[in-house]
Amino acid sequence: MTAATVPGTDKAPTTNQGVAAWVQEIAELTAPDRVVWCDGSDEEWTRLTDQLVEQGTIVRLDPEKKPNSFYAASDAGDVARVEERTFICTETERGAGPTNNWVAPAEMKRTMTELYRGSMKGRTLYVVPFCMGPTDAEDPKLGVEITDSEYVVISMKIMTRMGAHILPLLDEAGDRWVKALHSIGAPLAEGQADVPWPHNEDKYISHFPETREIWSYGSGYGGNALLGKKCYALRIASAMAHDEGWLAEHMLILKLISPEEKAYYVAAAFPSACGKTNLAMLQPTVPGWRAETVGDDIAWMKFGEDGRLYATNPEFGFFGVAPGTNWKTNPNAMRTIEAGNALFTNVALTDDGDVWWEDLEGDPQHLTDWKGNDWTPDSGVKAAHPNSRYTVPIDQCPVVAPEWNDPNGVPISAILFGGRRKTTVPLVTEARSWQHGTFMGATMSSEKTAAAAGTVGEVRRDPMAMLPFLGYNVGDYFAHWVATGKGADADKLPKIFYVNWFRRGEDGRFLWPGFGENSRVLKWCIERLEGKAAAVDTPIGFVPTADQLDLDGVDAERSDVEASLAVDVEEWKAEIPLIEEWFATIGEDNLPTSIRDEFEALKQRLGA
Ligand code: GDP
Ligand code: PGA
Ligand code: MN
Ligand code: MN
Repeated sequence: MTAATVPGTDKAPTTNQGVAAWVQEIAELTAPDRVVWCDGSDEEWTRLTDQLVEQGTIVRLDPEKKPNSFYAASDAGDVARVEERTFICTETERGAGPTNNWVAPAEMKRTMTELYRGSMKGRTLYVVPFCMGPTDAEDPKLGVEITDSEYVVISMKIMTRMGAHILPLLDEAGDRWVKALHSIGAPLAEGQADVPWPHNEDKYISHFPETREIWSYGSGYGGNALLGKKCYALRIASAMAHDEGWLAEHMLILKLISPEEKAYYVAAAFPSACGKTNLAMLQPTVPGWRAETVGDDIAWMKFGEDGRLYATNPEFGFFGVAPGTNWKTNPNAMRTIEAGNALFTNVALTDDGDVWWEDLEGDPQHLTDWKGNDWTPDSGVKAAHPNSRYTVPIDQCPVVAPEWNDPNGVPISAILFGGRRKTTVPLVTEARSWQHGTFMGATMSSEKTAAAAGTVGEVRRDPMAMLPFLGYNVGDYFAHWVATGKGADADKLPKIFYVNWFRRGEDGRFLWPGFGENSRVLKWCIERLEGKAAAVDTPIGFVPTADQLDLDGVDAERSDVEASLAVDVEEWKAEIPLIEEWFATIGEDNLPTSIRDEFEALKQRLGA
């Protein structure tokens, strides 16, 4: 098939010849019925959502309950990121490092070109121009996603700045834009009926950091398919940041306002499904403090002229975990959703056109579960998939910070690392220095969650919560973090803390109530910056006693809070061989000596 036979290929609304040529090349390869250049308009949204309703991919929710909102159920084989099928394709194997799946770029392109050949037959090729981060940034981070999924187009509309307003930037961009190619890999033969969630068992989520390209195939789901998010804003951007001297991190950005009306910005890295979105929309329980949201998943951080580290949120929407979200745990997420324009995936559908998931208020007696089956409280299965999600625009959040879209970002005062650990890791620990904090981030660990396909609950090292999202060698990444601190004015660097909201008692209960109560921990962190709060100097860092936290009115037993703060030297000694194993995985050649030094110092303090 020649390009001229794919209608719409020639309708490029941009003068950027590189974009037009790439679309033509991909149209020739994938052989869609037509090419549509997306403009991000309301008309386009209506057309695509109507079409998806017609196809049976989405269901329109009752507009009285959830205006302009939709429910989607994916195929049961396409519900999470697929780390085993995610590849970093650098010229050398060392470039990708020991934590990534590596295939040489030429080989991966050969393999995937054959998969893409004819992969859009019977479908429409959509061209989605988008920008990650504020469009008025000095160097706006542009991309073009090609996809054959309408679900992806509407999701990109919620999650990124996309559409016609990006074109003037693209016209001027030369080759400074990321090629993001996506196909669900489900061509339709002449007359073949479609299925509600077309996808392919054979999945590839491939990245070419050196040429700033993304090739995704076979999945229609979230981080595998909305290529602006994990693929661009973390994997490709982390490589850009390494080259250009900034940081692309898996972090929320939160603004805290003290009773004295002083604003502090905090960034926090927790692995997927470990509390970022909830902390980002925190409703503090500690009197006098307020919080506002800047971002809930990704932070791009650069030094400003004043020597401070400034963060921007590259995204335009939230991709939040539904189960556990309710009016008590996260009222601001509930209000954001109620405002409408939301897309829910793999939650349950109520009989009256609304959505439900585990721990949401209400006591439904009958539902359609995420697999499309009848569900009652006696079914004995979860109605919503544990990784079911809502996508909704960030500007609907009632506590979004007015500066969320500021191209200069917000100055970060504290960085939190945290994971999900039943034992060992205290509620909060302050690092001794930036380098010690980098060591904490480099060795942090967490139990695996449903956000990725695989075994839930298994403890693994997840450095800076970036294990699945690093676009280059993890040892070089640690060196980049250390160098970032060395190059800066120590007084202006954020202080680093390590938190764990998920420590448990012997019967499995959470020792710390979490959610809004986390504001008590944040207050202590801020007071440490101001030199106003006390702490105990322990072998692992500075840890408060229960007396040193503001626990007035806390919804927890005193003894549980004490247990959540305990530093058990024996438990920490048991971590040492695990860290040793992790460093062996990284390889002594890759590991910076400063990180090894921090480890030796920890061992010494523990008497290990
Ligand atoms: P993210 O994927 O890192 O953004 O995590 P979320 O904020 O979406 O939370 C993931 C899951 O952890 C949800 O089921 C939340 O209800 C739950 N969660 C979030 N914060 C806390 C907390 O402070 N304590 C406890 N126990 N659970 C939490
Ligand atoms: P999360 O985002 O961090 O909010 O779970 C999705 C993901 O990381 O897969
Ligand atoms: Mn994430
Ligand atoms: Mn989240």
